[in-house]
Amino acid sequence: MTGGSGFIGSSLVKKWLKDGHSLRVLDNGMRGQMRRLSDVEDEIEFIQGDVREFDAVNHASKGMDAIAHLAYINGTEFFYSKPELILEIALKGLINTIDAALKNNIGQYWLMSSGEVYQTPEHVPTNESVSLKVPDPLNPRYSYGGGKIISELYALNYGLSNFDKVVVVRPHNVYGPDMGWEHVIPQFICRAHELNASIKTGILPFDIQGDGSNTRAFCFIDDFTEGASLAFQKGGHREIYHVGTSDEISISQVATKIASLIGRDASIVASKEPEGQTSRRCPDISKVCALGYNPRVTLDFGLDRTTDWYLSNLALRNTNKLASAQD
Ligand SMILES: NC(=O)c1ccc[n+]([C@@H]2O[C@H](COP(=O)([O-])OP(=O)(O)OC[C@H]3O[C@@H](n4cnc5c(N)ncnc54)[C@H](O)[C@@H]3O)[C@@H](O)[C@H]2O)c1
Repeated sequence: MTGGSGFIGSSLVKKWLKDGHSLRVLDNGMRGQMRRLSDVEDEIEFIQGDVREFDAVNHASKGMDAIAHLAYINGTEFFYSKPELILEIALKGLINTIDAALKNNIGQYWLMSSGEVYQTPEHVPTNESVSLKVPDPLNPRYSYGGGKIISELYALNYGLSNFDKVVVVRPHNVYGPDMGWEHVIPQFICRAHELNASIKTGILPFDIQGDGSNTRAFCFIDDFTEGASLAFQKGGHREIYHVGTSDEISISQVATKIASLIGRDASIVASKEPEGQTSRRCPDISKVCALGYNPRVTLDFGLDRTTDWYLSNLALRNTNKLASAQD
């Protein structure tokens, strides 16, 4: 697995170990954290290396039955500030993992893509056959989704004759403890905490980008891990699966829920939204549900656990934003 010390990767590593698999993880620590793997460190082979280097990927691939490719840079602020890095890791990582799989006769290739491939989806709830889009190559925002579209095309077409099985998973807004700091839920938790500390009484004025009417469907990491595992392991060759939930909620509702978890009421203060934001995103998950997926964790429960983690780990904020491996 590439990207195995990341938020999603580390959760999948633990599940797949429990399921009886052996794992080798390749990660360069750019966004990963070994603490996420501390309880299973002795049960995996961990290789510190970069997916942009073929030799590292080739070395990590020897003797494996499947490659799960997760290494990528996410976090919306980096789409705007580091688009060339996002695309470099997307393209070189993809080509190197495919080449290493071919060289080492690895029959299965599992790709972690993203719901961002639709940008503004034509239909919501969105199923896997809706068209993929890069609305404007000049807007760096689309570096992330564009890199995922190329990755899917490359992997699925190589799958025509070179692999026994290529599976693509498109995650939609996965969240949970230790998910990183540059995402909407951790940012809202930190904002609510700071406002609570500085404004002692009354309603908290809660700043958000846009007016808060944008919607998303947030999926707790434990549910996501179950769904992605089913898709990769039971999914069909050259099949694409959404994994997420179909419970759509507005961003302003998420903000007020988080404020209430720290015991406060909040009123939303709207501001200008960066160009390229999507007003609605919610996956149709019936395809992965047909494999046995059934997300169970409510947003209230998941947000409670996530808020607890962030409030207990505020000291880790600003660590490993985008570690120096890039420079
Ligand atoms: N979290 C979500 O909601 C979400 C949504 C859609 C798609 N995804 C995709 O799922 C995958 C995992 O996401 P995540 O949320 O766990 O992110 P993450 O940043 O926590 O994990 C990514 C991992 O990749 C590693 N990595 C990055 N560049 C690398 C390189 N050049 N060489 C080796 N390792 C490298 C990082 O160090 C990190 O451990 C990514 O492909 C991401 O695009 C995530």
